[in-house]
Amino acid sequence: MSEEKKTFYLTTPIYYPSGNMHIGHTYTTVAADTMVRFKKMTGYDAYFLTGTDEHGQKIERNAREAGITPKEYVDPIVKTTKELWKLMNVEYDDFIRTSEDRHVKAVQKIFRQFYDQGDIYKSAYEGQYCAQCEAFWTPTQLKEGNVCPDCGRPTETVQEESYFFKMSKYQDWMIDYIHEHPEFIQPQSRANEMINNFLKPGLQDLCVSRTSVKWGVPVDFDPRHTVYVWIDALSNYITALGYTSEDDSLFKKYWPADVHLVGKEIVRFHTIYWPIMLHALGLPLPKQVFAHGWLLFGNDKMSKSKGNVQYAQPIVRRYGADALRYYLMREMPFGADGNYTNEAFLTRMNADLCNDLGNLVSRTAAMIEKYFGGKAPAHSEWQEPDLKLIAIAEALPGMVEKQMNALQFSQALTEIWKLVGECNKYIDITQPWVLGKSEDQKERLGTVLYVLAECVRFISALIRPFMPSTPDRINAQLGITQDLTTWDSLKTFGALPAGTQVKKGEALYPRIDVAKEAAELAEEALAFAGVPAQKPAQEVKEDKKPQAKEQPKQDMPEGCIGFDDFTKCKMVVAKVVTCEKVQKSDKLLKFDLDIGTEHRTVLSGIAKYYQPEELIGKSLILLANLKPRKIMGVLSEGMLLSAITETDGVETLRLLTVDSVMPAGSEVG
Ligand code: MSP
Repeated sequence: MSEEKKTFYLTTPIYYPSGNMHIGHTYTTVAADTMVRFKKMTGYDAYFLTGTDEHGQKIERNAREAGITPKEYVDPIVKTTKELWKLMNVEYDDFIRTSEDRHVKAVQKIFRQFYDQGDIYKSAYEGQYCAQCEAFWTPTQLKEGNVCPDCGRPTETVQEESYFFKMSKYQDWMIDYIHEHPEFIQPQSRANEMINNFLKPGLQDLCVSRTSVKWGVPVDFDPRHTVYVWIDALSNYITALGYTSEDDSLFKKYWPADVHLVGKEIVRFHTIYWPIMLHALGLPLPKQVFAHGWLLFGNDKMSKSKGNVQYAQPIVRRYGADALRYYLMREMPFGADGNYTNEAFLTRMNADLCNDLGNLVSRTAAMIEKYFGGKAPAHSEWQEPDLKLIAIAEALPGMVEKQMNALQFSQALTEIWKLVGECNKYIDITQPWVLGKSEDQKERLGTVLYVLAECVRFISALIRPFMPSTPDRINAQLGITQDLTTWDSLKTFGALPAGTQVKKGEALYPRIDVAKEAAELAEEALAFAGVPAQKPAQEVKEDKKPQAKEQPKQDMPEGCIGFDDFTKCKMVVAKVVTCEKVQKSDKLLKFDLDIGTEHRTVLSGIAKYYQPEELIGKSLILLANLKPRKIMGVLSEGMLLSAITETDGVETLRLLTVDSVMPAGSEVG
């Protein structure tokens, strides 16, 4: 009888389908997929859950504004999300949507159980609520001006009848649990943060229902209420496994989860509220919640309002999913913040994939073709440089496994690339092209090339969880059969049979011109994100026709744009920090604008209407996702909005502003 495999259950957060998933969401999902592929490779029965978190005020509002139902709003986004995961070669076992019946029914049962056992009670709530983050914030958490501490947007005062979960009742238990299970919250620094910032100051009871939001799971015993997001969202990890349903075999098999992967901003929900909910249900807790950092664009948090959202699709269409997967897993230590820029991505592709890996594979295959007629040579006795390399290769699977078990993807790849580097050094030291010159060195040459071919086999097998397609292209060149790519096959260095057919193929990753590619990729990324190429600020003013340039659509009166077109324009309140005349120009003013999360330099052709000093400190409206453009050698990063008119040949221009104090960065729309 075959032994039962050990199980491994991994989840991603379920994503808000309020817009399409960007490279940050892709990062989490690729990490999860890589981990699950690795576990499957090392013999686990691994189960991978992802999905979408569909309910809540924000989606309800977006749908209303678009004149459609919330379901109609999220359906196409969910479809695109699934297509994106396919494009990224992500193989999940289940995709849960919180709008699905299986989830809704289970959440209702869970909510009722909490109520029946006295963990939930009805009361009234008044507080500052951030609709964007779907979170209430206490006065100590709010930023100045009642601004949301997470997203920086203004909160609203909300009062309504609500159900509350008695979180406070479980506070001490939770503190003890975290202390007794040091592996539960990773990285460890996050555990300290949870204890010191949230648990020790005292947990407040959590508002778990709303009467003002209709797009949610109805509380079945009090249908005026819908279940408020976090009970709904967090439960997905068990409802997807069939918890409370007739067939709960998956739940029995896979729960508790081995790892919940989460972004650092949702650690609190996963390491305090979720464990308390599970404990109240009498269920075991996930073994680990791992908080990863943010993928920043340049040095900035990606956000639609900043117009710096990077999507995976244009990158993958040009360079393939493996290149992007490699970059995402290699660039930043898992747990810390990291950066995406086109330049960094392309530079890494050239260095690691083209130079290091690509050259190793093509040199090895080419030399076997040239010197041994395309048949892998047999090896003779190992010499010192061989033994050194073989030792590195033999130790590698264990090193990779250790790093992967700690979710250190980047470290695991660093270890693999050490072997790639050592192989390239080995070629330089052993100089096969010199050995190839004399017949009596043929045996030695055969050994050298055999060692290289075996190392390539190890590398190819170990990169597969990260880059699922590249190994097949390597293996096709080196004649590596499937049975020689398994985890077990890596226990033996020397498993590749002599005589294996080898044939050099196309370069795995052809060398690219980084500057040229970066420019083209940036263009394509903007086009994909739906940011239209537009004229710079003063040119638009001068031709005085700032109307939409699209063709009229059939079902719209001529000159109209669709709501979707409008929402592509990201406008924010921008506070003027400095303003000065641009030398040698009688039209331009140069602004330093504070837009909450960053400063922007913007040029505007309005010098004849304003003195720079009178604008300092003013809150203006900036079109923030206009493609940056160089004007007189200065990069202008947006366009200030203004109204212009002409009477009796005299032009008047006034900048748009807000009619009361609004924080810098507030969205306009
Ligand atoms: N719906 C909630 C999660 C509920 S889980 C029970 C949510 N959704 S989200 O769409 O806003 O974010 C989902 C995940 O994507 C989070 O873990 C978040 O950290 C991650 N990311 C979103 N932008 C990101 C980056 N720029 N970089 C890395 N991860 C990012 O929160």
